[in-house]
Amino acid sequence: MKRVGILTSGGDCQGLNAAIRGVAKALYNHYKKNEIKIFGIIDGYRGLIYGEYKEMQESDFSGILTQGGTILGTSRQPFKLMRVIDDENSIDKVKAMKEHYQEMKLDCLVVLGGNGTQKTANLLSQEGLNVVSLPKTIDNDLWGTDVTFGFQSAVDIATNVIDCIHTTATSHGRVFIIECMGHKAGWLTLYAGIAGGADVILIPEIPYDINTVIKTIKNRTKKGKNFSILAVAEGAISKEHAALSKKEKKAAIAEMAYPSVSYKIAHEIEEATGQETRVTVPGHFQRGGSPCPYDRTLSTRLGTAAAKLIIEGNYGNMVAVRGEDIIPVPLSEIAGKLKVVPVDSPVVRSARELGICMGD
Ligand code: F6P
Repeated sequence: MKRVGILTSGGDCQGLNAAIRGVAKALYNHYKKNEIKIFGIIDGYRGLIYGEYKEMQESDFSGILTQGGTILGTSRQPFKLMRVIDDENSIDKVKAMKEHYQEMKLDCLVVLGGNGTQKTANLLSQEGLNVVSLPKTIDNDLWGTDVTFGFQSAVDIATNVIDCIHTTATSHGRVFIIECMGHKAGWLTLYAGIAGGADVILIPEIPYDINTVIKTIKNRTKKGKNFSILAVAEGAISKEHAALSKKEKKAAIAEMAYPSVSYKIAHEIEEATGQETRVTVPGHFQRGGSPCPYDRTLSTRLGTAAAKLIIEGNYGNMVAVRGEDIIPVPLSEIAGKLKVVPVDSPVVRSARELGICMGD
């Protein structure tokens, strides 16, 4: 009898259910009915900490391939607080997670998540639990894998937004900023920006000079282009802010009198060019809805690869994409590392060759 617990943790994204289904279907396909039990842990690590879980039936995993969100629910449980005692309930979280793992008599815990989730997965693995993880996030910032599921679906949505904004921007002759998610990484903005034909792309990895951005817009006006489209990452940072220490940077950003960096940039552009400038923030829209076909396939492949590791008893790994292959990567190798856009990546080079302003 194999007993497997499964949880989804951190911000949700498209493809979570497809991945859960991939793991479960491959396990049910491999084992006889009475040889496998799957437990769904509710709302991520919170469910493992507080003992909220349920035994799943095979039918629970049917009809969820195209469904957005996660059938198990999710929550953010910051890694830095994992070792901190929950005062309200006097709970040692790590101890509690281990106890509930034992209570379910698990052979393995399957964890679907992004950076923080992988760090806790590694912690639990070091604490002696058998863990297999899958790389999830629209940010695509997980070290060790070429791509994460959720990313491509978010690129599709953000690109669609840019496409829609294009038509209204041209009609009104306005400058438009589309602010994309991505946390500290610029993958989503870069790919959606290129796919949507943005004139300026600002990502956290390449601090921007507002004068360069303004010059680009003025040059477009001189050429008779009455509108401009900027794809700006939520984590985009000016050269001045980038030069500050971590503490000073945090303070400077907190002091900013705008809801986000895009509004500051919009204000500066309007002042300098006199051109009407608008901001569109698709926000959580980018994480919602059905996974795109690419993500359905990727999540399914990652799910079946995770099931294979469980069957083989090969624990302590995240399944990762490397070229055409899916390979196991030790959790200890990936935990705590961020995969940001290399500033000289071929994609950035291609954007520059096209004449897109990267802000520097
Ligand atoms: O990590 C995914 C992500 O959507 C980031 O792009 C974004 O910065 C963050 O989550 C938003 O978090 P929340 O859903 O907690 O507001």
